Amino acid sequence: MRKFYITTPIYYVNDRPHIGHAYATFSADTIARYHRLIGEPTMFLTGTDENAEKNVESATAAGETDVQHYIDRMSALWQVTWDELGISNDDFIRTTEERHLRGVEKFWQAVEQSGDIYKGQYEGLYCIGCEAFYRESDLTPEGLCPLHKRKPELVKEENYFFRVSKYKDALLRYHNEHPTFAAPASRRQEVLRYITDHLEDVSISRTAKGWGIPVPGDASQVIYVWFDALINYLTAVGYGTDDETFAKWWPADMHLVGKDIIKFHCALWPAMLLSAGLPLPAQVFAHGFFTISEEKISKSLGNAIDPRDLVETYGVDALRYFLLREIPFGGDGDFSIERLAGRYDSDLASGLGNYVSRILALTKGVEMLTVGNDLKVVFDETWKSYHRHFAANEPGRVLEVIWQVLKEGDRYIDECAPWALKKDAEKTDELAVVLGTLIESLRQLAWLLTPFMPETAMKIFTSLGWQDELKRSLTEASVWGAQTHGPVVATTDPLFPRLTA
Ligand code: MSP
Repeated sequence: MRKFYITTPIYYVNDRPHIGHAYATFSADTIARYHRLIGEPTMFLTGTDENAEKNVESATAAGETDVQHYIDRMSALWQVTWDELGISNDDFIRTTEERHLRGVEKFWQAVEQSGDIYKGQYEGLYCIGCEAFYRESDLTPEGLCPLHKRKPELVKEENYFFRVSKYKDALLRYHNEHPTFAAPASRRQEVLRYITDHLEDVSISRTAKGWGIPVPGDASQVIYVWFDALINYLTAVGYGTDDETFAKWWPADMHLVGKDIIKFHCALWPAMLLSAGLPLPAQVFAHGFFTISEEKISKSLGNAIDPRDLVETYGVDALRYFLLREIPFGGDGDFSIERLAGRYDSDLASGLGNYVSRILALTKGVEMLTVGNDLKVVFDETWKSYHRHFAANEPGRVLEVIWQVLKEGDRYIDECAPWALKKDAEKTDELAVVLGTLIESLRQLAWLLTPFMPETAMKIFTSLGWQDELKRSLTEASVWGAQTHGPVVATTDPLFPRLTA
């Protein structure tokens, strides 16, 4: 049986989660939920990147002398946030955990045994914000890091180097043989250019200053944070500690990352794996970046919205819906409260919410229901597009398809006018079919919505007395009319109450 292992990047704990991070995690969560829905054993991993210098910097800025203490507190904040947002991650890795340290050590030794680690003199520019080395030509005309607008540090020291250059041909070959390894296609071109023109050996250690994972056999150096961080994808599934679990999950099926870190994942990371003799992941998918009202999200602009604040007003599912619907997956997007409120009103309160409550209200108290076939074909077709768009990494398209079928449902209600049938004693059979069909459309809709809006889907099932519905397999349940027992309708509160202005 196919399994599915999906990861998010591990987040730096120098700051609290903002809406951009929530977007990344919601996207991975939706994809993970989809794979569970289709019955694949799924492992969804997220976590925190803790050995970075930038974490130490912010500990100091926060007045904390005990770095570990600061990091524990911050990592807990990320975990709590994901819990509150209903993220369904199966594991949470912290790179200061023992299981990670053991795996990193094993990995370093494997790379060393391949003859790919050597000592050399490093001299270059390092941006702590990015935790990355810069070429002079990549800096702004003022000599600043283009992302953080800060002056990179000139580092000159003896370090260990990783022989990435040795893997140039192998990497290009791999990318050619696996054209969807780096996705979407626009990013793939960027990666290929980078490998072709700029791939060179990289320094993978720094002089130890009291924070970081010591280089095995040389405690005077710590491992470069990206080299250690990437290995989280292995250590979380048992590399170095649990061979059986590792064999079950590795290689990863999808590393979901932001476009700013695709080179690390599509050049450095596969080269590291080749050197350690491990299989490469199936895909690295880069999502875009989003801005808030056209501004970059940043601490200094004070626009780093806490997703939990939005959830208080709109609910988790509305936020998930908005982010996945509004921002084309893989592209950049803009976030604004006005558009979130707009979508909430039109697509959720008036659209989905109204459809559901209309049907529940019409059906309440009606004893006889018969599922007819009028909406069968549109739903069968919807399921086909649904799987096709998921397979193509187009969750936004999936949502469009669901909202189209909703429109068909609305049209069907208007055409059949069940409120009129209800008044006509001779039309009881017809009424039973119309309402039975509509109720079945709700069951199908709830299934379709499950990966995107898990709470809403569950509310729909519950309002129909089908609390156990999700225990069934999708193959069985997605068949039109496959109800285990008749619905027991209890009208509920609206799914998406109107917001008071
Ligand atoms: N620690 C590294 C990743 C190591 S993975 C082995 C890192 N961390 S990060 O916290 O800076 O960023 C984590 C993810 O959040 C990245 O994929 C980044 O692209 C994403 N985002 C940060 N700001 C974002 C937006 N404004 N919009 C969308 N994604 C954003 O990089």
